[in-house]
Amino acid sequence: MPDKITIRRPDDWHLHLRDGRILREVLPYTAEHFRRAIVMPNLVPPVTDAALAAAYRQRIVDADDSRSFQPLMTAYLTDKSDPEDLVRGYKDGILSAVKLYPAGATTNADQGVTDIKRVYPVFEKMQDTDMPLLVHGEVVGSEYDIFDREKIFLDTILGAIHATFPNLKIVLEHVTTRQGIEFVAAANDRVAATITPHHLMINRSTMFKGGIRPHLYCLPIAKRREHQLALREAATSGEQKYFLGTDSAPHAEDAKQSACGCAGIFNAGTAMACYAQVFDEENALEHLEKFASINGPNFYALPLNDDTLTLYRSDEALAQPDCVGVDRVHQFLPDTPVYWRVL
Ligand code: NCD
Ligand code: ZN
Repeated sequence: MPDKITIRRPDDWHLHLRDGRILREVLPYTAEHFRRAIVMPNLVPPVTDAALAAAYRQRIVDADDSRSFQPLMTAYLTDKSDPEDLVRGYKDGILSAVKLYPAGATTNADQGVTDIKRVYPVFEKMQDTDMPLLVHGEVVGSEYDIFDREKIFLDTILGAIHATFPNLKIVLEHVTTRQGIEFVAAANDRVAATITPHHLMINRSTMFKGGIRPHLYCLPIAKRREHQLALREAATSGEQKYFLGTDSAPHAEDAKQSACGCAGIFNAGTAMACYAQVFDEENALEHLEKFASINGPNFYALPLNDDTLTLYRSDEALAQPDCVGVDRVHQFLPDTPVYWRVL
């Protein structure tokens, strides 16, 4: 096993950057390792059209001291989205994709889609233009057990979307279940999935190890270990359908450590070390570059990055990094040792 590996510079195909001060605080952690990122539109109010996305992109570019980070923008789909605006935004190079949040599914998803059939005309136009649909794949409703929401979404909604629009590019974002992997594997090559570092490293038991651990709470929630193992197998397979998406989602310490703590894990700074650790544990370091730097751009039909990133294995496990920013955003680190580091 090598203790050093150089790969093409990775991209993050699912990222929350927020806005204002917190944007400026968290962006350097992404820009240090990643060249591009698909930026999620779940601001308050959400980024629902091309003009709002163009303005948000400019705020990100203005906040980027590295001057090398490239934000790829998404639009938040609502019942009232205008298909013409979204597709024009894609053709003009402002938008890279559309994000589907079922209404109420996660943080800042209240203005998401209430009835999937209402947005079928949007999917029709997107399919004709090759514009990707990024999916938060969970059903909403107190009748559904939180651990079953992804599977039920596949059975009742995503299967129908894919059957109706077989040429629509779909990314099942932050897949968390064996059934999600099976769905993607069985679908045609228009369907792919992103996988987070935390879903590769924790399972639902980890969330309750020795007590309740609010900093491991995210949506979709971590599932049983058998699902974690299915994700690890898929991510490290090198298969073109799976690629890196951190779902790094910063929240203030007091919003996480609360009687009703919010969902989201901030992992931008530790993600590459964590991914390398997982690929090493699975004896699959030779596939890390495909997952982190090749499969994503190929799916989005974008050029590969031409510079590189080097990672090495240290003798010492990574220590818990400091909190970030004025609001003390906690950084993700699993309780299993992480020996890999970005050089
Ligand atoms: C994300 C956030 O905080 O914006 N939270 C999360 O738990 N992943 C939203 C999301 O991606 O579901
Ligand atoms: Zn997310």
